[in-house]
Amino acid sequence: MGVTKSGVLFFLALVMLNQLIVNGDESTKILAVKYKKGKKLCDKGWECTMSEFCCNLTITDYFQTYQFENLFSKRNSPVAHAVGFWDYHSFITAAALFEPLGFGTTGNKTTQMKEIAAFLGHVGSKTSCGYGVATGGPEAWGLCYNHEMSPSHGYCDDYYKFTYPCAPGAEYYGRGALPIYWNYNYGAVGQALKVDLLSHPEYIEQNATLAFQAAIWRWMNPIMKKQPSAHDAFVGNWKPTKNDTAENRIPGFGTTMNILYGDLTCGKGDIDPMNNIISHYLYYLDLLGVGREQAGSNEVLSCAQQKPFNPSSPTPSASS
Ligand SMILES: *[C@@H]1O[C@H](CO)[C@@H](O)[C@H](O)[C@H]1NC(C)=O
Ligand SMILES: *[C@@H]1O[C@H](CO)[C@@H](O)[C@H](O)[C@H]1NC(C)=O
Ligand SMILES: *[C@@H]1O[C@H](CO)[C@@H](O)[C@H](O)[C@H]1NC(C)=O
Ligand SMILES: *[C@@H]1O[C@H](CO)[C@@H](O)[C@H](O)[C@H]1NC(C)=O
Repeated sequence: MGVTKSGVLFFLALVMLNQLIVNGDESTKILAVKYKKGKKLCDKGWECTMSEFCCNLTITDYFQTYQFENLFSKRNSPVAHAVGFWDYHSFITAAALFEPLGFGTTGNKTTQMKEIAAFLGHVGSKTSCGYGVATGGPEAWGLCYNHEMSPSHGYCDDYYKFTYPCAPGAEYYGRGALPIYWNYNYGAVGQALKVDLLSHPEYIEQNATLAFQAAIWRWMNPIMKKQPSAHDAFVGNWKPTKNDTAENRIPGFGTTMNILYGDLTCGKGDIDPMNNIISHYLYYLDLLGVGREQAGSNEVLSCAQQKPFNPSSPTPSASS
């Protein structure tokens, strides 16, 4: 008995060692490899399972606790508004749901790190309480909020009373890492994550893992059919149509802002709300050691001259 068991363990160890030697850096922690219709699928355990994307580095291979702490260094300072709420573990737990789909696992290490910087750049700018002269600079204050401070109303749109009916007493003000507003947005993301957010929108400000899951879901999915997701626009999966090209929408960070915020941010020239998001992205690229020079040209970074994909949505752009 004992002999057989240690024999098996030894064999497994050999297989893993072999993987490490064959693939070097790219395969750290690969537990198993399978082929399905000629495609290589890898298993890395809890973080990434049975997907071609799991054969590449996973997020914990290149983005660790100390880096999260660097990016969001002021979030637990006494003047912050969500002290103790956001942490690395919640982010990684949430990301694990989307890594097999390519979140942070697409392309080479530089592309992977850029996507995390881009996603978190959006998150940081939307949850920041930094201002011009704040300690550490305005970019150091990401994840300061987890919900809108003084909501002006309950964000219940009756147009969706059959698809996403508002629950009595529930308020759909901005909450989360990429703040969610309105019943129809809570309804859609709740449906996708199989959590009843229409009845319980408050879950988003009570559970950081759920808040990050909702934000990554938004990043990974298009707003409208036949449009790219922010993820696809960023990593280069999306091929612009003639119309897109004519309207200055090109793959890259600028188009992620177009997708997520439309004409609140884009097509209005060099405005502050847009520059604020870009500056968080660049700041994070520097902190992660990728360097802002990897961000590309201003044309790729900005959406100042882009025509928005979608006409104005009623969603406010900041959570404060
Ligand atoms: C995995 O990484 C390599 C480069 O390191 C890249 O060429 C490949 O596209 C990546 N795989 C996926 C599924 O993105
Ligand atoms: C990583 O991939 C990007 C996009 O495909 C490419 O432009 C870049 O040169 C690659 N970097 C390295 C170090 O291979
Ligand atoms: C928080 O949300 C996650 C993801 O939906 C869930 O797995 C977990 O149980 C929740 N935690 C609590 C305390 O409800
Ligand atoms: C391209 O733009 C024109 C003019 O705005 C519009 O009529 C047409 O439907 C668009 N085509 C696509 C495929 O979106």
